[in-house]
Amino acid sequence: MSLVKMTNLFAKHDDTSFAVGAFNVSNMEMAWGAIQAAEELNTPLILQIAEGRLKYSPLDLLGEVMLAAARKCKMPTAVHLDHGSTLETIKLALKLGFTSVMFDGSKYPLEENIKRTREVVKLAHAQGAAVEAEIGRVGGAEGDYKSVDVLVTSVDEAKRFAEETEVDALAVAIGTAHGNYTVQPQLRIDRLKEIFDAVQTPLVLHGGTGLTEDDFRNCIAGGIKKINIATASYDNSAKKIREVCDKNPSAKFFDFSNAIVQGTRENVKRHMKIFNPERR
Ligand code: 13P
Repeated sequence: MSLVKMTNLFAKHDDTSFAVGAFNVSNMEMAWGAIQAAEELNTPLILQIAEGRLKYSPLDLLGEVMLAAARKCKMPTAVHLDHGSTLETIKLALKLGFTSVMFDGSKYPLEENIKRTREVVKLAHAQGAAVEAEIGRVGGAEGDYKSVDVLVTSVDEAKRFAEETEVDALAVAIGTAHGNYTVQPQLRIDRLKEIFDAVQTPLVLHGGTGLTEDDFRNCIAGGIKKINIATASYDNSAKKIREVCDKNPSAKFFDFSNAIVQGTRENVKRHMKIFNPERR
């Protein structure tokens, strides 16, 4: 009923009052919990899945669930491929009807990242879908890839990359990393603001799990329009399952299934309230 493109959900460039939450989901329960949160808070959202997680939930199966959840949701919902690394997966996401894809070429030298990103932009735009890409390098790993160190995005490279690729959203590296932090990160809000002043393309923050409310607020005020949250939903769902086991050793399948819905719903609501201050 309300499947939309993520670009329709971004705040205008100069509106730094809110950001749209992009929540990774890996099964029907997580997708359902996320759309329940959106409806309860009257807040649009992005449902996404990273290529690195697909061995647990094949894209042709999970993708249909995500699209059905978006159509069912009463709030505008975009369906996005997160950290696409192969053309095969990107093409499948577009064929299924995902409204956007990310191509993550951050492991390539700049020229190569630009060249490959342009190919994806051409492909996706021809099908009416939007594209996110990454410049610099967010730390950690989204999915079962090798963990990498942060490489803070340079202003000049971000500007050149945005102009030459014509991407619809740009993921920047300002000190965050995927997964749980062992040491609280010191975010480069100064660099974020410089990039925001130099580039009109909507900016994306990866590695949202474990940041403080102040971190989120500073990032939104600095120009971030989309914030990715994955690990916190997975962890909260796992925690709820453990609680069910602890309370009732003979708990049944549907108790666990419900724990995942509630774990995701609770986590998505918590983050939506921070990202959209008027929803508090
Ligand atoms: P976290 O797992 O740290 O929340 O990162 C999510 C993300 O950036 C997905 O691309």
